[in-house]
Amino acid sequence: MRLSVIGCGYLGAVHAAAMAAIGHDVVGVDVDSARIETLAAGHPPFFEPGLEELIGEGVASGRLQFTTDLKAVRGAAVHFVAVNTPQVKDGYAADLTYVNAAVQGLLPFLSPGDLVAGKSTVPVGTAATLAERVTPTGATLVWNPEFLREGWAVQDTIDPDRLVAGVPAGEEGERAADILREVYHPSIAKNTPFIVTDYATAELVKVSANAFLATKISFINAMAEIAEVTGADVTTLADAIGHDARIGRRFLGAGIGFGGGCLPKDIRAFSARAEELGRGESVVFLREVDAINLRRRDRAVDLVVTALGGSVFKKNVTVLGAAFKPHSDDIRDSPALDVAVRLHGLGAWVTLTDPEAIENARRIHPQLNYVEDRDEALRGADAVIVVTEWDEYRRELSPEHASTLASGRIIVDGRNCLDAAAWRAAGWEYYGMGRP
Ligand code: NAD
Ligand code: UGA
Repeated sequence: MRLSVIGCGYLGAVHAAAMAAIGHDVVGVDVDSARIETLAAGHPPFFEPGLEELIGEGVASGRLQFTTDLKAVRGAAVHFVAVNTPQVKDGYAADLTYVNAAVQGLLPFLSPGDLVAGKSTVPVGTAATLAERVTPTGATLVWNPEFLREGWAVQDTIDPDRLVAGVPAGEEGERAADILREVYHPSIAKNTPFIVTDYATAELVKVSANAFLATKISFINAMAEIAEVTGADVTTLADAIGHDARIGRRFLGAGIGFGGGCLPKDIRAFSARAEELGRGESVVFLREVDAINLRRRDRAVDLVVTALGGSVFKKNVTVLGAAFKPHSDDIRDSPALDVAVRLHGLGAWVTLTDPEAIENARRIHPQLNYVEDRDEALRGADAVIVVTEWDEYRRELSPEHASTLASGRIIVDGRNCLDAAAWRAAGWEYYGMGRP
């Protein structure tokens, strides 16, 4: 099939490349000409495992094209909208400027029977409003939310755990669902659940999934706060409750909390939308989820300050990690980078390293000292804090080796990802998050 993808960021570039990889002819469109130039040359504009190969192969085969010229979408049967929906600057709501502009821009190029498939994460009610603009062209609007995780985006797109399609009622909706079944045929043939529903449910599935994940993380971080005043160990607690299949161990990783381009802004946008709908009280707990999450960054900073005797002023602090999670170069609302910036603000000489995110971090926070090489970054450190659980720090850094580089023997494990006993045995003062 011929497809177009509007917006070629972390979601759209992966979607475009994955759709080409499963056999479709795809044109990706973005307003960012530098991004399009990179993509058209066969390279991803950001780090995502497996994406370099996928884009390279797609572009070389001629089945994957990128342009800034929206006219190129003409003739595509399905137009995916994957533009950003950030938090508004003066509140919690989602900024729909880009989604509105993308859909408005598409209108002159739509043919009767085309699908416009929204993939961006939007407040419930958005699709119904956009459909009023799309329907007069004879095209159909569907909402097809995306659940990929950064770091696993290629795999999650080619082999998702479910597909959701919000469609209009009646025959038009049935036909639209059939077209999406054709697009995703390889996944559906492998028995991936394909859930067809109305617009509001599809939009809510997306935001409620992210709200649930954020709540799960903040739940365990709340337990970490209780563990801190009782001497309990939150990691053992998580293991123990996680054995209950109804609870499950995944997303019970206590630490400096969640960040990224989605969970934080999505729970806020959900609260804002619920309030508009007169149901603010239904999700008022999300405010607490947010607050618990942000407190964990304070806690990590406090641990470093306390371990260094009450002040980090003019102390060498090495921060391992800048990305919001491993296997990504994304620093949007990164708790890791936030902790580094706060320590710098308290007068520490912060040296920061990360396998992939240094360039992005430097652009936003040029005041920090960035060092590519992990060992170089550790040299002379009075204290070390792990804030992104890359294998380079979690598995590949032994405390004995770190001892040959650092000046001090203080290690703060902001992700509870290190072997505490091994670090202590090597003579380090180990501080975890919610661990004795
Ligand atoms: P992003 O900022 O990385 O990418 C958005 C892209 O859209 C940018 O390249 C921007 O230049 C482009 N754009 C903006 N307006 C445009 C227009 N009118 N025409 C063409 N291009 C335009 O954002 P992202 O992380 O890819 O997220 C996109 C959406 O997908 C958001 O709603 C997000 O919540 C959702 N989402 C993201 C992920 C993820 O892992 N990043 C996963 C699921 C859902
Ligand atoms: C998240 C969801 O997992 C995806 O399903 C969704 O599609 C996406 O948001 C989105 O809507 O954009 P992502 O942001 O890529 O994906 O990353 P996650 O793996 O969910 O991690 C989010 C944050 O939570 C990271 O900062 C991570 O370090 C943190 N986290 C995760 C914890 O603190 N503890 C955990 O146990 C798990």
